[in-house]
Amino acid sequence: MVEHSGQFQSRVVAVTGGAQGLGRAIVAALAAQGASLAVLDRNGDGAQTAAAETVTGGATAIGVTCDVTDMNAVEAAVAEVTARFGRVDALVNNAGILPRRPLAEETVETWEETLRVNLRGPFLCTQKFGAVMKAQGGGAIVNIASIGGTVPTVDAGAYCASKAGVLALTRQTALEWGEAGIRANAVSPGYMQTAMTEDRYAIPGLKELRASVVPLGRVAGPEDVAGAVVFLLSDESSYINGHEVVVDGGLTLTTTRRVSPPT
Ligand SMILES: NC(=O)c1ccc[n+]([C@@H]2O[C@H](COP(=O)([O-])OP(=O)(O)OC[C@H]3O[C@@H](n4cnc5c(N)ncnc54)[C@H](O)[C@@H]3O)[C@@H](O)[C@H]2O)c1
Repeated sequence: MVEHSGQFQSRVVAVTGGAQGLGRAIVAALAAQGASLAVLDRNGDGAQTAAAETVTGGATAIGVTCDVTDMNAVEAAVAEVTARFGRVDALVNNAGILPRRPLAEETVETWEETLRVNLRGPFLCTQKFGAVMKAQGGGAIVNIASIGGTVPTVDAGAYCASKAGVLALTRQTALEWGEAGIRANAVSPGYMQTAMTEDRYAIPGLKELRASVVPLGRVAGPEDVAGAVVFLLSDESSYINGHEVVVDGGLTLTTTRRVSPPT
């Protein structure tokens, strides 16, 4: 965790998909740094609860019901956040879905819904919240991608395509908005246990198997990933723009293990 420097105390951060999982951990980590939070989620009750439960001390948070695929809802969320706080300094595009099906059986509906939530959502939020940051003279954006954006993952073709798009959106935003003082970077988790992946970890032995191929020897929890997001929003990363921080415990380095000589 980045040491509390007080720099977030005057900053307003919007986090999409903040009701649970990684988004909720990011909200808690930023609140611990003194940020004011807008917790956006299509699960409005969950957003309210996360805002109420994760924020301690002098920090402030509001829950906002928002489906990130809906342009009107995103515009309404921007209006609500700026009416409440008067500004927006940072955005975390974290909301996502992970439907699983082999490509041969994938439906057009699920393919398009995955792209809508995971890629159209970050585009809309970037454009609408980014306009406020531009008018203010700067800001920071972190997009939650995935190692799946670079490495294909079994039964997750739509998801991986959407996350590759998120990485491209990150670079494009960095290129186009750098001169407006807005940095954009991505965080790509590897194996992480949340509600999104709970069905997988319910399979006996899978968590242990996955942990065994991660050099750090364990599957991540949301708190393992949230610190990288705080860093990329902070002044400590003020010259990092358009890049991906992979938070996978070294998982994507392990291909050669499969051809290690037998012992
Ligand atoms: N869990 C993992 O193993 C893993 C690995 C790599 C990347 N990620 C990424 O991390 C991010 C967070 O995932 P998580 O594991 O915390 O998932 P999660 O399912 O626990 O939480 C996702 C949150 O997003 C919200 N959401 C979904 N669709 C939305 C929409 N249209 N509008 C607004 N909110 C919406 C949900 O209500 C939920 O609160 C996602 O972008 C995911 O792709 C997760």
